[in-house]
Amino acid sequence: MPSSPTIWRGCCGRSSRTETDAGGGVPGEDDRTRTRAQARADQLRAELHEHGRRYYVLDDPTIGDDDYDALLDELRAIEGAHPELVTSDSPTQRVGGEPVSGLPKVTHEIPMLSLANARSEEQLRAWVSRMRTHLAREGIEQPAFEFVAEPKIDGLAISLLYEDGVLVHGATRGNGEIGEDVTHNLRTIPTIPLRIDPRVGAQGTTPRVLEVRGEIYMALKDFAGLNERRAEAGLSTFMNPRNAAAGTIRQLDPRLARERPLSMWAYGIGRTEGLRLRSHWESLEWLREAGFPVNRDIVLLQTEDEVVKQCLGWQERRGGLDFEIDGVVVKVSDLELQRRLGVVGRDPRWAIAWKFPPTTKVTTLKDIMWNVGKFGDLHPFAVLEPVHVGGVTVKLATLHNEEDLARKDLRIGDEVIVLRAGDVIPQVLSPAPHAVEREGRSAPPLPPARCPSCDTPTVKPEEGVFTMCPNRVCPGRQWQLLKHFVSRGAMDIDGLGEKQVYQLQRAGLVTTAADFYRLTAEQLLELEGYGKISANRIVENIAESRERPFGRVLFAIGLEEVGFVTGRNLAARLRTIDALLAASPEEILQTPGVGPKMAEKIHAQLAEEQMRALIADLREVGVRMEQEGPPPGEGPLVGKTFVLTGTLPVLTREQATERIEAAGGRVTSGVSKKTDYLVAGATPGSKLAKAERLEVAVLDEAGLLGLLG
Ligand code: IVH
Repeated sequence: MPSSPTIWRGCCGRSSRTETDAGGGVPGEDDRTRTRAQARADQLRAELHEHGRRYYVLDDPTIGDDDYDALLDELRAIEGAHPELVTSDSPTQRVGGEPVSGLPKVTHEIPMLSLANARSEEQLRAWVSRMRTHLAREGIEQPAFEFVAEPKIDGLAISLLYEDGVLVHGATRGNGEIGEDVTHNLRTIPTIPLRIDPRVGAQGTTPRVLEVRGEIYMALKDFAGLNERRAEAGLSTFMNPRNAAAGTIRQLDPRLARERPLSMWAYGIGRTEGLRLRSHWESLEWLREAGFPVNRDIVLLQTEDEVVKQCLGWQERRGGLDFEIDGVVVKVSDLELQRRLGVVGRDPRWAIAWKFPPTTKVTTLKDIMWNVGKFGDLHPFAVLEPVHVGGVTVKLATLHNEEDLARKDLRIGDEVIVLRAGDVIPQVLSPAPHAVEREGRSAPPLPPARCPSCDTPTVKPEEGVFTMCPNRVCPGRQWQLLKHFVSRGAMDIDGLGEKQVYQLQRAGLVTTAADFYRLTAEQLLELEGYGKISANRIVENIAESRERPFGRVLFAIGLEEVGFVTGRNLAARLRTIDALLAASPEEILQTPGVGPKMAEKIHAQLAEEQMRALIADLREVGVRMEQEGPPPGEGPLVGKTFVLTGTLPVLTREQATERIEAAGGRVTSGVSKKTDYLVAGATPGSKLAKAERLEVAVLDEAGLLGLLG
C-alpha cells in the first residue's frame, strides 16, 4: 500500500511525456521549440490543476503557495511567448478553485477576482508605474493615487448578500464566477451581522442590495485549541488554520461550524443598490459603521514610499498577529480610478498582493521514505522531527526526486532547513550549515532496493532518472493508476478521489480499473462514510463514465507517453481499440504528435499481457472502445478546420474539440488562411485579431453548436 496517500509526488513525474498539437507541417526549429513549449505547458497545466484541486476542493494542499506560484509563473511565461498555446482551461485563466459538489451553486454577478503578486520593492514600484502608464493612455496624467494597505488574511474568500439589510445568501468564491452556497455555516459566525441596523448604516438608510466581501479565518489560538480537542478525541488534526476554516465552511451540517471558532474580516463591497461611495477607504469606513468587522490595522497612504514602508513593516510584525497573514494587499482607493484601470486577465490592475517571503526553520531529518508512482517510479520524501513553521506543525516534506536528494546532500540524522511558503507541504531546502561538518554523518541515502509498497526488488533503467518498481501489479502503483483513471480529464468520476480509491482498494473491492464498473451500492454501504444516497450516486457516476469519449479512455488506462491530447489523437486516427491493438509502430507513428520513440513505446505497452487483459475487461464492462461519430470523410464538418480561442460559456476547450472532431472537422492551434472558422469565447487571445485580418469567419459558441446541428 502507498506509504503516504497524501504526499506530493513532485513536479518531476514523467517529464518525458510529450503532447503536441494536431497541426501538421514539416518540423523546423520553431516547430520544435513550440512542441517543447507545448509539452511543458501541458505538463505544468496538469500539475497545477492537480495542486489547485487539492488546495481548493480537497482542502489538502501538498505544496506551498510559492511553489505553486513558481509553476504558474513558468506557465504564464510560456503562454506569453506562445499565445496560441493558451487553453481555455489553463490555470492562468482561472480565478480560484472549482466549486465542490454537494452544495448548491451560486453565480457571482460581479466576478470575485484574484490578485497579481509583487515579491519585492521593485515589483511593487513597477506596479504603480504600470498603472500610471495605463492611465496616461486613458488621458489621465499625474493621477493622485491614494492607497489602502490591508493585511492579506490567509483564509477563505466569501461573499455575503444583504437585501434590505437582511443577510439572504453567503457563498464561497469557488472559481470566481460560481461559488457554493454556504449561508447555513456563515450564519453561525458571530461576527457576521445577520441584519444591518438601519440606524447605524451610514448615510442614514440601508442599501436595497449590498454584497460584502471578506475573508473567513480561524484565529491562531482558536486553531490551537481546536486541534488539541481533536487530538484528545482521537480525531485527525488540521494542517493549518486556513484548511480548518475552509473545511468547516464547506460542511453540509451547520452544527460543525457552530462548534468551530471562525471569524471574518470584511475587505470590500461587491454589488450595491442605494449606496454612493467614492473610494475604497470610504467603503471600509461605511462597513465598519454598519457593524462589519473591518481590521483596525488597515491604513490609508498617500505615496508609493509610504506603501513600501508599510509592507516591510508588516513583514516584520507578521508573527505578532493572532491570525495568519501571507502578505499585504495594496489597493488604489479612488473607485473611479479603479474603474478606469480595469482588469487584466483575472487580476484587477488597481490592486496587488505583496507576498511575504517564505518562512524557514531548522529541524532533524528523521527518515527518508519513498512513494511509488503510476509507472513504478519511486519518489523520495522527508520525515521530519515535527517543527512549528509559521503557525503549522510540519512532519513531512517533499524531496522531488533522486537527483534533488543527491544534489542537496541530505543525510538521515542531519539538521535540515525546512521552508514553508504560505502553505503546506513544505520543502527541505538543504542541510543546516553546521550539519555538513558533523562527525559520523550517515551515508548518502539511496533509493530502496525493494519497493516500499510490494517488496519487489527495484531496478534503475539506464536511461531513466527514477529507480523503478517493475511489478505491474504493485498495489502502490495500482493506486496511482486507479486515481488517474477516475480523475478529471480521464474518466472524470465525480465522488471518487484518492481517499475513496484507497478505501476501495484496501477493502479488496477494486484491483484494476474495470472493477469500478462492477461495484454495487450495497458494497459501498458496507464501507465507512457512505449513505444510501451517496452510494447510489457514485454507482451512477461510474456507470455514466462508460460513455466518455474513446480518446479519454486511452488516456485513462495509464499508457506511458499517452496524455490527454495523444489519447484523443490516437482515437481519432485509429478509431477502434481493435485497430489500435493491431497497429504496428509505423501505423501508430502516423498519429499527429507521436514521434518514433513514443510510437515504439505505446506499441510495446499495448502488447503487454496485463494491458491487454485490462482493455478486454474494460470492454466487457461496457466502456466505450471506439471513436464516436462518423468515420473520417463523413459528418457535417468534414474538410473544415477550426481554431479555438478564449473561454466558451458552456463547453470546455476539450469538449468543443471532441464535438468538432466527432463531426468530422479538424481543430488546429494557429489561425492561417486555411482556417475555416475561429470559435471565440470570452477574453480571446491574439488569434481573434489575426482571424479578422485574414477574414476568417468568427463564431461564438452558439454558432458552433448551430454548425454541429
Ligand atoms: S481583495 C480584487 N483584500 O486574497 C481583489 N483579498 O489573492 C480581490 N485576501 O481571493 C480580493 N485578504 O481570498 C482582498 N484584504 C484583502 C484580502 C484578500 C486576503 C485573499 C482573498 C482573495 C485572495 C486573492
